Amino acid sequence: MSLNYSPIGVFDSGLGGLTVVKELIRQLPREHIVYYGDTARVPYGTKSKESIIRFSHENTRILLKRNVKMVVVACNTSSSYALVQLRKHFHLPIVGVIDPGARKAAEVTRNRKVGVIATPATVNSRSYARAIFRYDRAIQVSSQACPLFVPLVEEGWLRKPVTTAVAREYLKPLRKTGVDTLVLGCTHYPLLKSVLKDVMGAKVALVDSATEVAAEVKRILQDRQLLRPSAVRLFPSGRRARYSFLISDRPQQFEKTAREFLGYNIKAVKI
Ligand code: DGL
Repeated sequence: MSLNYSPIGVFDSGLGGLTVVKELIRQLPREHIVYYGDTARVPYGTKSKESIIRFSHENTRILLKRNVKMVVVACNTSSSYALVQLRKHFHLPIVGVIDPGARKAAEVTRNRKVGVIATPATVNSRSYARAIFRYDRAIQVSSQACPLFVPLVEEGWLRKPVTTAVAREYLKPLRKTGVDTLVLGCTHYPLLKSVLKDVMGAKVALVDSATEVAAEVKRILQDRQLLRPSAVRLFPSGRRARYSFLISDRPQQFEKTAREFLGYNIKAVKI
């Protein structure tokens, strides 16, 4: 069967990539999606560059076995370290999450003071600062690693007082710098949006790359004529998009937080 009917592959270290999946479903409702969350090895953000690159290759191979037509690296940590190598190694379109978020931040900021919160690995890679400078060299970027956010999200503690207390502590230095834009440089962080909004205040714009990433995926599929046609006449039973969620550990926990975030039940399969 032609590639048009193949799914879009998406991976993350855990459930953070669901923030991107939600937007893909909104912008590309006809497309099948296969998601892989490496919950057995999460977090990636505190691992070495070598491990992050190896995990990213393995995750891509898992998706390729499902015959995906393109891969979305819905993980800032993997995008920071492995994107260039993945693109060299695998011969299909691969989209990362750094550049779309950086472009959006450069568009949104008025005072040219942008904060970036991300995993320690992403902050150390300086991938956001470099990408933002490419759009506007006058922007001052202040970065803050927030390693406790990922386990809080994976645990489903999206609105607990402890989560707010941790956010207050991490964001204190950024609030002092007077940023008017805050990039959520980890796909887990949009799940904490209400807490982050409360702590930063209504005047600070929160930027997450999910909308931009989904728009880029759509553009690529259109350009390469890879969109899934409506196929009503040819495949009446295959009209609806199918979503598969594959994970490497703890499916129940994944399903619970996914339900809270997506607003409906999903079935996660451990592989
Ligand atoms: N959600 C991922 C990111 O965007 C990874 C978080 C982690 O595994 O540390 O960076």
